[in-house]
Amino acid sequence: MFTITVVSTKGGVGKTTLAANLGGLLRDIGLRVLLIDADVQPSLTRYYALEHEAPHGLTQLIRSGVLSPDCISHCQLPPASYDGKLDKMPQSLGGVLHLVRSDTRDGKLQDWMSSRMALDMLMRLNMPLKHPSVTSAYDVVLIDTQGAIGHLQDAAVNAADQLLVPVSPDIVSAREFLDGTISLLDRHECTANVGMKMPPMKAVLTRTEKTKDCNLISDLVREQFIEMRGRVSMLSTVVPAAVAYRKAATSQVPVHWVDPLKQSDVMHKLLWELIPSVAGMCASNHPDFIDLNAPHDDN
Ligand SMILES: Nc1ncnc2c1ncn2[C@@H]1O[C@H](COP(=O)(O)OP(=O)(O)OP(=O)(O)O)[C@@H](O)[C@H]1O
Ligand SMILES: [Mg+2]
Repeated sequence: MFTITVVSTKGGVGKTTLAANLGGLLRDIGLRVLLIDADVQPSLTRYYALEHEAPHGLTQLIRSGVLSPDCISHCQLPPASYDGKLDKMPQSLGGVLHLVRSDTRDGKLQDWMSSRMALDMLMRLNMPLKHPSVTSAYDVVLIDTQGAIGHLQDAAVNAADQLLVPVSPDIVSAREFLDGTISLLDRHECTANVGMKMPPMKAVLTRTEKTKDCNLISDLVREQFIEMRGRVSMLSTVVPAAVAYRKAATSQVPVHWVDPLKQSDVMHKLLWELIPSVAGMCASNHPDFIDLNAPHDDN
């Protein structure tokens, strides 16, 4: 099982969009995916329709330290309201898409976390996700976080094998990314003496419009590489600004359903770069998909 936390100290950069779309794509290539909405604003919780809404969610997961079935909701694809073309919808390849929904708008969970010892608080997501019943049930866990430093973000960072950091391609956002990332590194390096390790970070440019801006920001991030202690690498895939992302969110489906050519390609490339062990695996509506089980015409 591989855990990715989508994190950024800046709001609105596309964290939820990436978590939802990568989750939907992984499910369509046949993997078992668990989404965890660790943002107080329940955007990921609302992204997909639910065919089963569990009575509990994040609060119980964190407070009990156990991922019990009554915290696991099941996403519904396609939702009953989906009016997309049937021939564009990927066939199900046996993947699953589950969700631990965010239920902590009133701030009680954060208050509860503040009262814990630092180490205990940091392990509150890491510990339940390392349980054999969870590692054997899921291939990938994707954790969405809020765009602000806090206990939930700390616990989500500490649970990850890898961090995915979306960056907007403007200079103000890039500087904020650099400052935010350095303070995140400082914050988490304090835990190194209790045996915690800061996961590697992969930054991805999102909502890009012009190649020139992207090059500029990529160069800036690379120049700061040493200050970021060699922990951050820049992915070569960039996610362009495209209406398909908003359309997909409105229809409660992943973007590779709405735009099976361009944005589907972007998401596949991003996924393959992010998790090299799935490189080459495609959703069934991707042009590269080869159905090895299909009967061959030998003539
Ligand atoms: N590549 C894209 N192209 C166009 N619109 C996008 C793209 N990525 C995200 N958006 C839109 O930008 C808005 C913000 O995206 P999103 O909610 O994913 O950001 P976020 O980082 O999760 O924000 P927050 O910090 O508030 O949680 C949404 O309306 C989303 O549909
Ligand atoms: Mg969000």
